Amino acid sequence: MEKDLQAIVEEATLKLSSVTNRADWDSVKSTILGPNGTVTRIAKGIGGVAKEDRPAFGQALNRTKKQIEGIFKDSLILIEKKADLQALGEEIDPSLPPPSDFTGGTHPLTNTRRKIVSIFRKIGFTVAEATEAETEWFCFDALNTPEDHPARDEQDTLFFSPDAKWNNIKQKRDEAYVLRTHTSSVQIRSLLREKPPLRIIAPGRCFRRDTVDATHSANFHQAEGLYVDRKVTIKDLKGVLDFFLKELFGDKVETRLRPSFFPFTEPSFEVDLRAPNIGKLSDQWIEIMGCGMVDPKVLDLVDLNSEEWTGFAFGIGIERVSMILHGIDDIRHFYNNDFRFLNQFSHSS
Ligand code: PHE
Repeated sequence: MEKDLQAIVEEATLKLSSVTNRADWDSVKSTILGPNGTVTRIAKGIGGVAKEDRPAFGQALNRTKKQIEGIFKDSLILIEKKADLQALGEEIDPSLPPPSDFTGGTHPLTNTRRKIVSIFRKIGFTVAEATEAETEWFCFDALNTPEDHPARDEQDTLFFSPDAKWNNIKQKRDEAYVLRTHTSSVQIRSLLREKPPLRIIAPGRCFRRDTVDATHSANFHQAEGLYVDRKVTIKDLKGVLDFFLKELFGDKVETRLRPSFFPFTEPSFEVDLRAPNIGKLSDQWIEIMGCGMVDPKVLDLVDLNSEEWTGFAFGIGIERVSMILHGIDDIRHFYNNDFRFLNQFSHSS
């Protein structure tokens, strides 16, 4: 009896030694542990065992069954491991050095965006976001950019077909949808959502019908800033932007506001900067961002009393900042997904 049981263990071990796949393993298993298998057959033989020997027989049988089940389990693990290795297409050579522990990194534009946001967080700005597909009202009208303004030209703006259906954007009136041409639309969405005083920084993706070249991309990124409170002045604007640009480009940076025009700010400025440590661009004035005092007409359009509230807004190109910080001379590098380029910045800012 004991001998029979021992023989089954040997039978199982022997049969499994030549099994290399799951299907064969299943069929060997059924010949031993299945309803017509050897173990079952022996168990059925209990009737022929003397009554007093039955408990011992039962125990021995159970022990053997457990042992055999263990053998099958181990063998299956081995078969699956081998199958995994085969799927890798090669045997592992344990003498080789371990593979690189590089697990990927963040994109340079992500790093730059995070850096910009973290600077504004330090001075109490919170992150705001809004949709990339916008109605013309949020992208233009509410920003004091009337229908006949050149910025709304089909040359610059990507329009959706008029019958496009959107159910996640609240439509203000019957009008076309566009891909937002700037993040300034977030100013309006924030002003309608939140009562001032308000300080937001809104990084995001923008779209224009630009022909792609070294400095233009139809898809690019901006970070928008908006500060609305009582008695905000140009001094506040200059102070905040100076702090920001010093944090970004170093203490030695100089800045200047140059008069400019945006429909939604009055007065409007371009910010130029000069810094000693920005590679080829060092020590020359370069344009970095647009800004201005929020035009009272914009406040009126979102039902805020422009006698009580004042504010400033600014917008900065994330690609532009990243290019200056890293001496990158072609915007297309950001989108080509070339590992040799990306890898250089994946752990820096
Ligand atoms: N939206 C402007 C642009 O895309 C930048 C800007 C933002 C200017 C906020 C002033 C204030 O050029």
